[in-house]
Amino acid sequence: MVAQIESILQKIGAVLLAIVATFSSLLGLGSGGIPEEAATEDTLCYTIAVLSDTHIDNAAAAAMLDAGLHDISADYLDVDAVLFLGDCTDNGNVENWETFTNSVTKYCTVQNKIVILGNHDTWTSYDTPHDYDEALANYLTYSNAIMGTDHTAPYFTCEFSGYSFIVLASEDTSVSATVSDEQLNWADEQLAAAAAKSKGKPIFVLMHQPLNYTHAVGDNKDNNGFSDNETSKKLQAIMDKYENVYYLSGHQHYGLNDGSSAYNYPYGFTTVEHVSENITSVNLPSFIYPSMIYGGDPLAGDGLIINIYADRVEFLGRNFIVQGWLDFTATVPLKNTAD
Ligand SMILES: [Fe+2]
Repeated sequence: MVAQIESILQKIGAVLLAIVATFSSLLGLGSGGIPEEAATEDTLCYTIAVLSDTHIDNAAAAAMLDAGLHDISADYLDVDAVLFLGDCTDNGNVENWETFTNSVTKYCTVQNKIVILGNHDTWTSYDTPHDYDEALANYLTYSNAIMGTDHTAPYFTCEFSGYSFIVLASEDTSVSATVSDEQLNWADEQLAAAAAKSKGKPIFVLMHQPLNYTHAVGDNKDNNGFSDNETSKKLQAIMDKYENVYYLSGHQHYGLNDGSSAYNYPYGFTTVEHVSENITSVNLPSFIYPSMIYGGDPLAGDGLIINIYADRVEFLGRNFIVQGWLDFTATVPLKNTAD
């Protein structure tokens, strides 16, 4: 039912966007760089554009992604890296990946890109049983082509300009995440290595699904976070050993919410949550589906610009299709930046 509503909203959104893109100035949406109140150029170190759940499966969806990537690649945003947080395709078959890859290679001129695996990328059609190995092979083929890498597994590490990005991925086709102890141990090693060389800098952990008990996810019964509640707890405990960890996820398809909205999902929902003193968890809306049924933007195209400063990380809501800032900002201070 939710999928049907989202599909209808996507079609409505595609029509609305053509109109809104023409008249965006009438909505008071600026198209320039950082909003004036947030700009302190002297200490801005790195800028990341993040989008999630593009669910590419047809030309209309690809046209929306093309428009968003045009904004992300524009000089006025001066983006250093782009993160695609999974569900890049609606079904991870060759046709969907070809469409996604064509958009990214044509319209995303930012060199540093990370493409991660979402649950929709772990199957090749809605028919069951799903074939994880076939879907994984497609993901590796196309994500490696986009990133210019030769990964052989869906979890890997990237480093751009001294910033570490540790990418995790489900090892099963279920909607919620299945992560092995082997991957958890690997993540611990990668976090230790990143922490050793980047004191005072953010360390980004990218995973399509949020941790359980964050961002309106309950335990595994909700079929949304991690399948195994213990695995979610183990990953959280591992990340909590290191400072300045930022866990970025998508999957929920909820709107950007700073907690001031009256909207309140069963466990409450905010986009940026302080899981612990060391872990900040950030949940992205779906790029391709309008999030108004979840208390967010009535237009598709939402994502975040992350600005890293010497002493803080700043999150700015942006509609990449309309090319305008959204009424969402959050700032998290970095620890031990003076050491
Ligand atoms: Fe999704």
